[in-house]
Amino acid sequence: MSNKIVLLPGDGIGAEVIYAAKDVLEAISKKFNKSFEFSSFDIGGIAIDNHGTPLPDETVTACKEADAVLLGAVGGPKWDNNPSELRPERGLLGIRKALDLYANLRPVKGFEKLLHASPLRQDIIQGSDLLIVRELTGGLYFGEPSERRDNGNSVVDTLSYTRKEIERIIDKAFQSAQLRNKHLTSVDKANVLESSKLWREIVEEKKAQYPDVTVEHVLVDAAAMKLITNPTDFDVIVTENMFGDILSDEASVLTGSLGMLPSASLAEDGVGLYEPAHGSAPDIAGKGIANPIAMILSAAMMLRYSFDMNDEAQAIEDSVENVLNQGYHTADLKSNDGKLVNTTEMTELIVKAI
Ligand code: NAI
Ligand code: MG
Repeated sequence: MSNKIVLLPGDGIGAEVIYAAKDVLEAISKKFNKSFEFSSFDIGGIAIDNHGTPLPDETVTACKEADAVLLGAVGGPKWDNNPSELRPERGLLGIRKALDLYANLRPVKGFEKLLHASPLRQDIIQGSDLLIVRELTGGLYFGEPSERRDNGNSVVDTLSYTRKEIERIIDKAFQSAQLRNKHLTSVDKANVLESSKLWREIVEEKKAQYPDVTVEHVLVDAAAMKLITNPTDFDVIVTENMFGDILSDEASVLTGSLGMLPSASLAEDGVGLYEPAHGSAPDIAGKGIANPIAMILSAAMMLRYSFDMNDEAQAIEDSVENVLNQGYHTADLKSNDGKLVNTTEMTELIVKAI
């Protein structure tokens, strides 16, 4: 049986790193005798240029028919002044909504070899290994109304959730904690926001169903501080869409670079989408120096979550670690080893290690 994978390269370095992941998957296919079938579709800025919309219908259809989707990144200065319906980010929000990808899983694990690449003290980050479970199809990024009023002189955004939307993400987080170190931190702003009060109530209701998991509630501002002062206190963090967006970029500091962080976006049952946590990095796009590891580790998550290929996923993760341990690094990862490599070279090293 062939596994159908849709590639959505997108813009900027998205298109550079996605083919790195494809090369790695082809190496896995050879080594483990698995069959992957790839097709590519436009999303984001390139889709605006080619089709006049950030999310063409054919892209949505192809994703729905696929077994899994790999996405690079969207966006760039070229489209920054477009009206909001012609923004690349609309494509991304649209595909998350179309596939009902409500759960975004972002593992943050420091590689031993990269401890020095973080600006944080090594004794603080040593041993940090956490998973951020971010709600992805509700909250502030989707609430209506979201508009300008009074001739543009006042604005409104809306943070709205239904009970069902909160329950399913909380369940996913508890289940994820059961598979890890059985500690869940729910992050909210329950001292101010009504939405957070319901969120907290639901966590309290649900915890009886998961007696093996310990639970704590932390306000988002305190969580932001704890994440970089006591990161080893965390196992699984569950939070609202925008809080999760911000905290996961912050958590990337633990790993040394945004270029190291993969993510999985999952539906209740249906196709999963896998993408790096970083964006299209216009400042380095076209230079061939992007770190492909976040994208490659996202492909590993795809093997694990969508295809149940645990050994294959592990082979990718071990190969990445192996190459880093040899001292190789891309420009975003500071190192004194002097083994600076570009995107293609890093990819070839990982392929060879596999
Ligand atoms: P960004 O993540 O693209 O870049 C932030 C910084 O990290 C830049 O200095 C960049 O060079 C560096 N960086 C990111 N990934 C890297 C990698 N793999 N290797 C080496 N360095 C890397 O975030 P930024 O600059 O805020 O946004 C740029 C564009 O990307 C915007 O249009 C934004 O809307 C879009 N974006 C798209 C996302 C997505 O498609 N999922 C997520 C975040 C931003
Ligand atoms: Mg973000």
